[in-house]
Amino acid sequence: PGMVVGIDIGGTNTDIGLVTRGGDCLARKRLATRDYPTAEAFADGLARTILELLADREIRTLAGVGVGAPNGNAFRGTIEHAPNLKWKGVIPLAKWLHRRVLCPIHLDNDANAAAMGEMLYGGARGLRDFVMVTLGTGLGSGVVIDGKLVRGHDGFAGELGHTVVMPGGRPCGCGRRGCLETYVSVTGLIATVIDLLDQTWAQPSRLEKSRDSLNGKLIAAAAEAGDPIAELAFRRTGHMLALGLANAAAITNPEAIVLAGGLAKAEALLLEPTRAALADCLHNLYRGKLRISVSKLQADNAGLLGAAASVWTTAPAVW
Ligand code: BGC
Ligand code: NA
Ligand code: ZN
Repeated sequence: PGMVVGIDIGGTNTDIGLVTRGGDCLARKRLATRDYPTAEAFADGLARTILELLADREIRTLAGVGVGAPNGNAFRGTIEHAPNLKWKGVIPLAKWLHRRVLCPIHLDNDANAAAMGEMLYGGARGLRDFVMVTLGTGLGSGVVIDGKLVRGHDGFAGELGHTVVMPGGRPCGCGRRGCLETYVSVTGLIATVIDLLDQTWAQPSRLEKSRDSLNGKLIAAAAEAGDPIAELAFRRTGHMLALGLANAAAITNPEAIVLAGGLAKAEALLLEPTRAALADCLHNLYRGKLRISVSKLQADNAGLLGAAASVWTTAPAVW
């Protein structure tokens, strides 16, 4: 069996790809995560899509399926209390997928999978110490120390999105307030635009008419066209991101922080203010020694490829 399926579950989209051992994605499909009212229906949808991707190849050519999921736990093959998914509680997704496709299933946190993808196939090849940060519906992170992905005592290491950067700040899906991801994520960017539109001093913005249907692309397009509210929202997001990255640097002293996800591509809009703010808030100890880079893997494939690779590597749990 020379092929695996990699699945990258996001709050908005889920990507499923048929991947070779060398990391080539032969075919891929996308599901809208929110279309599935229950996690069982979602597991059915994933199983159906896996069979579609295999097309006329036999199921025994499949060596396994690797899944990266928000709040994924590699020790138990579960998704636990994900703030950005509508299925609550503990979901034994690996077990459910195994029942449907009858091959080994590996499941990990989505950003951990992205870190693996980046380490095996992307810009983090050869790095021993780095932090992967994914900017999507939420903010995820995968921490690599001394060449090893850190999973922690119970499988939930590296939840940078839920470090508090603003005491008493915005409510987070995790039930607390002021978490980094409530400011730095697509959801956070949208909330910042809404906050700014609501300010009395607010300048006129073309985003006003779409305030109920905002998304990352719309805000980026407005910012590129010089919309002051959109530009300011990106700048504020960049400042908060810098704070989060400075905190991450202080914990693991990485050589690089690799950013991925749609927002990470906003080089001038997001990364310039992030770098500028980092120059102020990074501790002296790390100044000039921390590289901030953007994943160069095509189609934001780090999560999918990393999840796929977990079948070949040493992910702990197999169903
Ligand atoms: C979850 C993380 C996940 C991140 C990105 C966060 O809300 O807690 O587990 O990696 O979103 O999806
Ligand atoms: Na993680
Ligand atoms: Zn939180």
